[in-house]
Amino acid sequence: MNGELFVVDDLPGEFARRVIAAYQSRRTDLFSFALSGGSTARSCYERLAADSTDSIDWLSVNVYWGDERCVPADDPDSNQLLGRQSLLERVGAANAVYPMTCDEGPDAYQLRLGEIGKLDVVHLGMGPDGHTASLFPDSPALEADPGQLVALNEDPSGRNKHPRMTLTFSGISRSRLVIFTVAGASKRAALEAVMSGEDLPASRVAADHVVWLVDREAAPVDG
Ligand code: 6PG
Repeated sequence: MNGELFVVDDLPGEFARRVIAAYQSRRTDLFSFALSGGSTARSCYERLAADSTDSIDWLSVNVYWGDERCVPADDPDSNQLLGRQSLLERVGAANAVYPMTCDEGPDAYQLRLGEIGKLDVVHLGMGPDGHTASLFPDSPALEADPGQLVALNEDPSGRNKHPRMTLTFSGISRSRLVIFTVAGASKRAALEAVMSGEDLPASRVAADHVVWLVDREAAPVDG
């Protein structure tokens, strides 16, 4: 496992605190922030929206996504819709919002990422199977060439539906800070496996700095 793990009682609050701190210590005028999908992300963004009113000027934030389902933007399974409903519609206009759209293909998104060099913060969740973003166990994107930052992908097990677009490990690694948020007892086994060195997709995430925020239900028993 790469990074530092913190077991926290208020995961959304700690997530918001760390994003705000990263924003306030940003090195450039514009702050680049890549959103995750999932229910944990939704609660984190609702809290970030509530806690950032006096601390983040969203007009100096460029918003990206770490992965997306290949569905219409108004589909209930859309990560873009999740980010808009739980965060962007609550904080007002951001400087720029760059949804992933499968129709345009991964290369267009890769070019956009190439323009900024590094993302300031990438938010990631983890599934019970140890996937992160849309990097699923035994899926093709796990073996993407190092120069490929964005890829189309699918879950070969069928557990996670829809074709996907996702940052690759290379795409994720071009970030100053990765924040994992892992909540709920259903994640404990995968987290223990990652911590014990098993080669799950989440285990392979590396960046300048990786922080794992874990609630008590997901934390290993002796955690
Ligand atoms: C996705 C997410 C995915 C998610 C995890 C955790 O598009 O499905 O990016 O990687 O973060 O599956 O999701 P939950 O928080 O809902 O458990």
